[in-house]
Amino acid sequence: MSKYIIPHDHIITKENRQAMKGHKSCILWYTGLSGSGKSTIASKVEEKLFEMGMHTYILDGDNIRMGLNKGLGFSEEDRKENIRRIGEVAKLFVDAGIIVSTAFISPFRSDRQMVRNLVQPGEFIEIYVNTPLEICEQRDPKGLYKKARAGEIKQFTGIDSPYEAPENPELEILTEGRSVDECAAQVIRWLQQHHYIPVEEPALPNS
Ligand code: ADX
Repeated sequence: MSKYIIPHDHIITKENRQAMKGHKSCILWYTGLSGSGKSTIASKVEEKLFEMGMHTYILDGDNIRMGLNKGLGFSEEDRKENIRRIGEVAKLFVDAGIIVSTAFISPFRSDRQMVRNLVQPGEFIEIYVNTPLEICEQRDPKGLYKKARAGEIKQFTGIDSPYEAPENPELEILTEGRSVDECAAQVIRWLQQHHYIPVEEPALPNS
């Protein structure tokens, strides 16, 4: 990095922005196999947070792999770079005072740890969407597992490229036999219990 890049001290801080919003900002980092339900759960959680008046955003394959990370593939190197850039973008969202969700396989522990280290303690919330490979393969919403089994797609996570499950995630969601709503409610509950978002008070009866 050039020694002539000197940071500017802005007057408005992350804390100012959080105070304005009335909630903390953090990264909800969903990780899991393709087809495990990351985007679906992230989307439902966002809906619930939005209704509660929280400021949110979702980074996923649609807005990142087709834009900023267009040109990156699925080699180990490219996946690492994919996650590094997503981590840097997510960090900016945290600075902006927003609850940002990311829905990427992010198969390597070291890459997820790298993102955790980018932000302050407590700002990176690792959510392991734990759906067994057999179920993901049965669901196969995009027909990609079938193609991977047929050898048409190489280095497919879970087939011929590894997925390293989190060892100590803040949250683990077992999706098998549970509705999207239940899974999303688990995330919301956790965020309330850990004081990231306010607990909604029940309405007072009319006196
Ligand atoms: S990551 O490994 O770099 O984190 P990312 O979440 O961005 O992956 O992209 C995964 C999505 O890309 C999958 O859900 C699937 O739709 C598609 N995809 C295409 N090729 C592969 C592949 N070789 N391995 C995994 N996913 C792939």
